[in-house]
Amino acid sequence: MIDKSTPDRQISPEQQPDDLDNLLRPQSLTHFTGQEKLKANLSILIEAAKQRGEPLDHVLFHGPPGLGKTTLSHIIANEMGVNIRITAGPAITHAGDLAAILTNLRAGDILFIDEIHRLGRAVEEILYPAMEDFVLDIIVGKGPGAKNVRLKLPRFTVIGATTRLALITAPLRARFGAVYRMDFYELEAIQDIVVRGARILDVPIDDAGSSEIARRSRGTPRVALRMLRRVRDYAQVRADGEIDEQTAAAALSLLEIDKLGLDDLDRRVLRSIIENFRGGPVGLDTIAASISEESDTIMDVVEPYLLQLGFLARTARGRVATHHAYNHLGLPYDRPDDDGPKQVSLFS
Ligand SMILES: Nc1ncnc2c1ncn2[C@@H]1O[C@H](COP(=O)(O)OP(=O)(O)O)[C@@H](O)[C@H]1O
Ligand SMILES: [Mg+2]
Repeated sequence: MIDKSTPDRQISPEQQPDDLDNLLRPQSLTHFTGQEKLKANLSILIEAAKQRGEPLDHVLFHGPPGLGKTTLSHIIANEMGVNIRITAGPAITHAGDLAAILTNLRAGDILFIDEIHRLGRAVEEILYPAMEDFVLDIIVGKGPGAKNVRLKLPRFTVIGATTRLALITAPLRARFGAVYRMDFYELEAIQDIVVRGARILDVPIDDAGSSEIARRSRGTPRVALRMLRRVRDYAQVRADGEIDEQTAAAALSLLEIDKLGLDDLDRRVLRSIIENFRGGPVGLDTIAASISEESDTIMDVVEPYLLQLGFLARTARGRVATHHAYNHLGLPYDRPDDDGPKQVSLFS
């Protein structure tokens, strides 16, 4: 099924071709704004490895798209002063593909595997001994004459990134020495990121303007930076080229992004739960089918932010719209005696 809605979404945290990611990507940990706890842990990990003169332990980043997993992986390579080799779960279809990548690594190199939850089973099994013992087990020859050969690999580091920690198998997860969860950013951090982006793009922005963009960016740097570019366009065409509160608000309203950063898809999800399923509980696939969207998009992109806002609750029987969601959409809340999760017994 072709997902038609996502590519047009201004607030889609998934990467799009015009994102200028490389231009806007901070190169060092000091220029990486926000995620303070994660940064503190990461800098200890890096310092300690450097002091010992060893490659970094394998690192796994997980969290919603657009929060900086790829960026941090590049920063780690910079800070360690090593090469980074980039691939992604769906790109490695055969065990042989991975074997070829592994045998080309040099000592200390980083192998970045994006969407690592999408690695195939056979490929994963090559990865286990490679990560654990730095060896590659391959079969040479065919038929009765086939032999098992064990190749030694240089010590290298895998950095994995995923939006779905739950889909990572236990044995793979166990091979990561450090697992970091990325959360949505605080408002001030996002505002700093917008201001920095505006400086790089050379567009004047005032405090209220950057704050307006930050408020609507659902705590996601990629979304904030994309909005910044759309607001810049608007300011250029409809105003004097400078971004203030008014141009930011007008531009984002025109894109149907509301004050909390919800767009049409978010609202359709909420409306579907409320209007088609009496507020829930309802399963995610059912919601997706009712509005002709991909479940994956809803799970990765829509749901985490609605959960964070407290508009959605996840229960054992499915998703429930909370009274906050009704309020935000201006719909009457008519189920005061069945207010989401606390009514759901774990033992039912
Ligand atoms: N902490 C940050 N400070 C500044 N820019 C950031 C930060 N985190 C992410 N970005 C920017 O947001 C965009 C998306 O980041 P990326 O690392 O590709 O996210 P992910 O890999 O988690 O989907 C990039 O353009 C990146 O430069
Ligand atoms: Mg990424």
